Amino acid sequence: MSRLDELKLRIESREASMGVIGLGYVGLPLALELARAGFDVTGIDIDAEKVQAIEADRSYIEDVEASEIASMRSAGKLRATSDFQTLMGLDVIHICVPTPLTRSKDPDVSHMAKAVEEIRRRLRPGQLIVLGSTTYPGTTHELFVPMLEETGLRVGEDFALAFAPERIDPANRDFAVHQIPKVVGGETATCRDLACRVFETVFDDVVPVSSTASAEMVKLLENTFRAINIGLANEIALMCQRLKLDVWEVIEAAATKPYGFMKFLPGPGLGGHCIPVDPSYLAWKMKSLNFPARFIEVATEINCHMPEHVVERVIAFLNRDRLALNGSRILILGVAYKREVSDLRESPAQDVIRLLAAKGAEVSYHDPYVRECQIDGRVYKNRDLTDEILEDCHLAVVLTDHVCIDYARVAQKAPRIFDTRNATAGLSSTRAEVEKL
Ligand SMILES: NC(=O)c1ccc[n+]([C@@H]2O[C@H](COP(=O)([O-])OP(=O)(O)OC[C@H]3O[C@@H](n4cnc5c(N)ncnc54)[C@H](O)[C@@H]3O)[C@@H](O)[C@H]2O)c1
Repeated sequence: MSRLDELKLRIESREASMGVIGLGYVGLPLALELARAGFDVTGIDIDAEKVQAIEADRSYIEDVEASEIASMRSAGKLRATSDFQTLMGLDVIHICVPTPLTRSKDPDVSHMAKAVEEIRRRLRPGQLIVLGSTTYPGTTHELFVPMLEETGLRVGEDFALAFAPERIDPANRDFAVHQIPKVVGGETATCRDLACRVFETVFDDVVPVSSTASAEMVKLLENTFRAINIGLANEIALMCQRLKLDVWEVIEAAATKPYGFMKFLPGPGLGGHCIPVDPSYLAWKMKSLNFPARFIEVATEINCHMPEHVVERVIAFLNRDRLALNGSRILILGVAYKREVSDLRESPAQDVIRLLAAKGAEVSYHDPYVRECQIDGRVYKNRDLTDEILEDCHLAVVLTDHVCIDYARVAQKAPRIFDTRNATAGLSSTRAEVEKL
């Protein structure tokens, strides 16, 4: 029996030991799911604070309760470490590290490469490696197969390699992790089948595809689809402004069509680690093949312009009352990239605040999820949403529609609101003048 056949039996009996490299928004929930499925799971992260938090039964992610960590740890199913030597003893290793963009907006796969290098140094027959970080089609096959085969071990024969994109949606309470079908592509059929076996222990549905590149492309299609449709919603918002129509009313009415329409909403710009980033991975790859990714280019241009548009609208709003932006007190409501999360990555609020401050506005913010943020070297701290701060500002700008913010009170106390999220929908008899995106 080959070492990979043995691994299959160990997966089925839950004796296979699991490793998760990268314990962030994706890795920690996955580690917990695997532990719940009965595997011994070791999380590995270079961030000592995360490792300490897990070892102290603390959570640093909104979607994960500390009690879930505590219960898996007390059952002896979960541990965390920064020591890569642990990799030697693991049968299955999941990679969930970041895949951001470089300054020039090219893919930065260096975190993945470092994680794979740590594995390469210790690779032994009978291990399965599953990449979960979003990346361009071909990464697993073109970059990581040669790297791992430098060891003299052969993929599909000695070790297995698969790509299974993560589809988690932070703060989405409608779908638990295990309810989101898992797409799996392998370097060989053996690799794919082994990875499917692992995920079948956790996920209600597992969707095998023919290759790692196909699985990589699935993820990019999903997020490019979203980025482009948000770009369309943003452009429709700009059109509606010219036409003096309420874009929110138009979209909600269109969404009553029971087929052939899917609702996407406009906003102050794209945010998060995925939607603003992932289409650039695909566009970069296609550029290397002399194929311009035209839809991505157009949507990116529209979405990236939204923070500037918000600032232009703020200036016009103040101007109507003969106020200059320079010297005005602007209160931003919500800086996280989406509601009910603390994640600031790529949040359009950072651009909006930077642009407002550069034009002389006195900017402060309220976001119960974000204690402080640094923009252009300046530290902004969360302000309590007191009546005084609302009455004192010249304009409140809703950038993130956290549900815990009392918009009725905001509308009673603040003199003006610019609402980019339709958070003030349904409020009547407000003291504030309200203008929407
Ligand atoms: N956040 C999401 O909603 C989401 C959803 C689907 C897919 N993804 C994708 O999943 C991947 C991970 O995203 P995330 O949001 O979990 O990132 P994250 O920043 O929250 O977590 C990544 C973790 O990896 C650690 N890390 C970085 N390099 C490492 C290394 N070499 N060795 C060990 N640990 C390392 C970091 O310290 C961090 O804790 C990305 O490719 C992302 O695009 C994210």
